[in-house]
Amino acid sequence: MAGSAFVKIDRLYEMEIRAKARDAEKDKPIIHCGILDFFKQMTGFEPTAYQVALLLDPSQFVVARWSRQSGKSLCLTLICLYVALSGSNRRIAILAPSLRQSRAMIRRASSFLPKLPGNALEGRALKTKLEFSNGSTIEAFPNSPETVRGLTLDLLIVDEASYIEDDRALYDAIVFALGTTNGRFIATSTPGSRDSLFYEMCMDDDLYGDFSRHHVSFLDALEPSGPLKKGILEKLERQMREDPWRWQREMLAEFSEDEEAYFSYSLIDSAVDDHLGYVKDLNKPEEGGERENE
Ligand SMILES: Nc1ncnc2c1ncn2[C@@H]1O[C@H](COP(=O)(O)OP(=O)(O)OP(=O)(O)O)[C@@H](O)[C@H]1O
Ligand SMILES: [Mg+2]
Repeated sequence: MAGSAFVKIDRLYEMEIRAKARDAEKDKPIIHCGILDFFKQMTGFEPTAYQVALLLDPSQFVVARWSRQSGKSLCLTLICLYVALSGSNRRIAILAPSLRQSRAMIRRASSFLPKLPGNALEGRALKTKLEFSNGSTIEAFPNSPETVRGLTLDLLIVDEASYIEDDRALYDAIVFALGTTNGRFIATSTPGSRDSLFYEMCMDDDLYGDFSRHHVSFLDALEPSGPLKKGILEKLERQMREDPWRWQREMLAEFSEDEEAYFSYSLIDSAVDDHLGYVKDLNKPEEGGERENE
């Protein structure tokens, strides 16, 4: 009886000590290195030149239009973790076209937890949220304007931004979450439709001129400069020759016109006769020739 009371006291004392240690760590950064070293330590990869440019970009609004499989999501995951761990009490939200995709980023971030100091995580890693001992959080949200209203954020990350349905409604619902923190917004995607907010962020200098823009074609991401393998890409390019806009969009990371147009630019181009000139006045015969019915 007396023994079990001592065991209980020991356990309570241990819990108290652990809580005190946690409190001492609160509000303190968990990591102290630079973001490039952090990327290397976590992934075991050297960041590519274009990943370095994104990792080091200090701009408040950033948009990255990169080819498929160039390392967008990995880079975003590392930015989330770095922002969370290199300061304290940072609130980070991840958005994507679906909750499945934003949760996939949490899963990816969780895969790096074993490489972090043992006391980094507060509680258990959840499917939609990671909470750290320094008070920072990374949370995945669904593409639903109602759900994301009312947040306050230091960093808002959007992956595959060009494929988000009702992107304008979602942006309006969440972007003001950065208003009191003077927080940052980073969106990455392979280009989709021109009728999208992502397109405007990439192209409209009047409205979105303060965005820092990154463009990466597959040519920048081929081995050894990036993770893409030349052999398979040559085959894929051949497969897509009938619909060149697919290749343009996925691998050149260009917004293509042909997908939505009745006539492709190349067809219109081939129909133009360079020998024809403008008729200035339909009632006057052109010099060097009479109109047929005159
Ligand atoms: N710097 C790097 N060095 C080596 N491999 C890398 C590097 N960056 C990313 N990768 C690898 O490239 C692959 C694609 O990465 P990731 O999923 O981040 O690309 P993505 O651009 O998001 O792809 P998708 O367009 O399909 O969404 C992954 O296997 C990832 O580990
Ligand atoms: Mg991705």
